[in-house]
Amino acid sequence: TLLILDFGSQYSHLITRRCREHNVYAELLPCTTKLADVKFQPKGVILSGSPYSVYDNDSPHVDPAIFDLGVPILGICYGLQEIAWNLGGEVSKCDHREYGSADITINKFGAGSVDSLFEGFGDEMRVWMSHGDQLSKPPPDFHVIGHTNSAPFAAIAHNSKPLYGIQFHPEVTHSPNGKAVIGRFILNICKCRQNWTMEEFIGKEIDRIREICGPRGRVIGAVSGGVDSTVAAKLMHEAIGDRFHAIMVDNGVLRLNEAKQVNEMLNKDLGVNLTVIDASELFLSRLEGVEDPEQKRKIIGNTFINVFEDEAAKIEAAAYEEEKNGAEAKGRVEWLLQGTLYPDVIESISFKGPSATIKTHHNVGGLLKDMKLKLIEPLRELFKDEVRALGRLLSIPAQLVGRHPFPGPGLAIRILGPVNRDQVKILQFADNIYIEEIRKAGLYDQIAQAFAVLLPVKAVGVMGDQRTYEQVIALRAVQSEDFMTADWFAFPPEVLRRISSRITNEVSGINRVTYDISSKPPATVEWL
Ligand code: XMP
Repeated sequence: TLLILDFGSQYSHLITRRCREHNVYAELLPCTTKLADVKFQPKGVILSGSPYSVYDNDSPHVDPAIFDLGVPILGICYGLQEIAWNLGGEVSKCDHREYGSADITINKFGAGSVDSLFEGFGDEMRVWMSHGDQLSKPPPDFHVIGHTNSAPFAAIAHNSKPLYGIQFHPEVTHSPNGKAVIGRFILNICKCRQNWTMEEFIGKEIDRIREICGPRGRVIGAVSGGVDSTVAAKLMHEAIGDRFHAIMVDNGVLRLNEAKQVNEMLNKDLGVNLTVIDASELFLSRLEGVEDPEQKRKIIGNTFINVFEDEAAKIEAAAYEEEKNGAEAKGRVEWLLQGTLYPDVIESISFKGPSATIKTHHNVGGLLKDMKLKLIEPLRELFKDEVRALGRLLSIPAQLVGRHPFPGPGLAIRILGPVNRDQVKILQFADNIYIEEIRKAGLYDQIAQAFAVLLPVKAVGVMGDQRTYEQVIALRAVQSEDFMTADWFAFPPEVLRRISSRITNEVSGINRVTYDISSKPPATVEWL
């Protein structure tokens, strides 16, 4: 395992990604972590970049014990400056912040050889810079292994120990050889084993789940029809069979036929023990007349907890009955499955604390506190695309594995006015046509998220000789890496034409379709 210490750079998680792309398992921990608290023996350490300056009063610093570990260390940007700060070098402010591409010249030694970190990249390499400070004097016993026009000490190495510092960011794709540089460090210098593969992960994780759950005891978990909960459920099923109970709550604001399709896929195709609860009446009655988006989210979140808890209690009671009657004792419900992913874990362990959220995103986070269930989170080490790869290996249908995300509060935050069965139906039909046509045009995988929004305004139209006065559908499709920023998707006009014509012809209640061309920021992906 490789240890990455996070000083708060926006790129830190990318370092973890690049290591894993080399099939090396890497863990990101806050830079303030004490070495004594690290539960594994790192084969090497990478220090990330940071928005801070090493001389700031409140700047974060690493446990100096890492320099006595005897394993290779690579400092990236602030990480380089942190090495200098600890070992007697000097850092100073640049005249102006350097941001963008630069060409680094790789220093040659003796008979034209270069440092092991840069072997195989030629004389010069295009890299990405983003820094306000830079090294003005390397620490004693270090030498320069690369420089640029503006940074004479852009890359340094210790004379005898495997300590490295680089000013540029190898983790971003704007550094074309960046991933290979990270590969040089973790494979050739740290000599990490390349044993992080999804096949290995499945085997290890199933063993781990079995060990945690023991020979008895049941697990419950909510599934939504999304990738994460489906993959987590299938993994649990592989590990403990029907001691895992999946629950799907139909909240009345799901996509068209969603509950039925999820039931068929999980229960029939994947063999997962699933109960679908139709609670649509309860949800819709509580949502009646509500327009405020945060209010809608709150109602759906709370109602979900009520319904889920009731169902969990039923499963618990049935388990108790079975046991009393001497059936094979599978134990009581002890665990709650959560589909937490690595980015959420990183977010909550950051040394700065979780970053501010702009909307209250509903997930099953604070669920079931007084039921004293213990959490089990089989995906907590994975990034989204690793979950997708895992899903493919677990034979989850490709359509589901590549599915766009869908918000917990569902269509309730895509119906801008009050939510009721009629409005839900209109939106379900329109959204279904939209997605169907996107798939037919072969564009689905180029889009991060696409959906229809039902506006609470009426517009005038004409049909035959009749004047119509009906609602408007807005279409949204965005491209995005991480949903923090997003840009609208440029559809070929004929695709939009087909979608619009089908929606206005086939969905009664709609006579007008518009396409949303706002980016995030300043807009958000959802309309509420
Ligand atoms: P925004 O609208 O914040 O969306 O730009 C970013 C991503 O988050 C999803 N989203 C939600 N997901 N509960 C969820 O589970 C919510 O309340 C919620 N609001 C937005 C949105 O679909 C997009 O993928």
